[in-house]
Amino acid sequence: MLSYRHAFHAGNFADVLKHLILIQILGYLSEKDKAFCCIDTHAGPGDTALNGSYALKNREFENGIGKLWLRDDLPESVASYVKLIRGFNPSARLNRYPGSPLIAKHLLRQHDRLLLYELHSTEIQALSKAVNKDKRVTVFHADGLTHALGLLPPRERRGLILIDPSYEIKSDYTQATETLIKMTKRFATGTYALWYPVVERHRNQALEHAIQTSGIKNVLLFELGREADSDGHGMTASGMIVVNPPWTLEAQMQCALPWLAEALGQDGAGFYRIQTLVSE
Ligand SMILES: C[S@@+](CC[C@H](N)C(=O)[O-])C[C@H]1O[C@@H](n2cnc3c(N)ncnc32)[C@H](O)[C@@H]1O
Repeated sequence: MLSYRHAFHAGNFADVLKHLILIQILGYLSEKDKAFCCIDTHAGPGDTALNGSYALKNREFENGIGKLWLRDDLPESVASYVKLIRGFNPSARLNRYPGSPLIAKHLLRQHDRLLLYELHSTEIQALSKAVNKDKRVTVFHADGLTHALGLLPPRERRGLILIDPSYEIKSDYTQATETLIKMTKRFATGTYALWYPVVERHRNQALEHAIQTSGIKNVLLFELGREADSDGHGMTASGMIVVNPPWTLEAQMQCALPWLAEALGQDGAGFYRIQTLVSE
């Protein structure tokens, strides 16, 4: 039984990092004319009203996109991210936050494809409504890990697989990692972005170790923390593990992450990590 609802968290500091990297990867894939395929294995509702009751419950967006909204000194990649979110808020007030499905859809060209998976029976309805009818986009009410694995490699032979579980259950860590490893065996040249929260650091260490010993090559890790680790007291940081990253990504994150750690950190406790988990 799934109880996680992304609307409580939409636009928080973890979404900032995740969507910043998503935009950079899809922008890089768009630099060549050849079509790409983007697969979002855990799509969520696609769109969140920030003046709705879920988002207002803990107001997490205020410590994420809300802190960037009025800044005029953003690093280039962060400015591109905020500009894209502004496009969904024509009145200039921050009322709405697009999730990964709408961000990816926005960046598709005519010949690209987007495959979205969502398992939750309410979220799948919200997602279908959010992406509306678009022949480039297919929405599956199915398990994004097992189903997407069966579709690899995509016919375009170029693309991104975003793996963004809610980690509601602890087995999500191993299941997501094992699936990522299997996926890279079927589609070795694809780019993969696995999002992770930092709640209990030992789980992240195990995840990183599993990837480092898997045989996958060319893996970078990007992490953004609001406060120091505090085992078991909620999410203090989050990150993205990127397999076959665009060659431009590390330099962009070297500019963005120190700035974001300062801007989004709690009382000066923000931090970041940029690490080569496995070299090329
Ligand atoms: C973290 S949220 C996704 C947020 C979204 N990717 C974004 O960035 O806006 C995770 C979503 O995955 C869904 N989910 C959980 N297990 C799933 C599975 N095995 N396959 C597909 N969706 C799943 C949950 O219902 C939830 O909506």
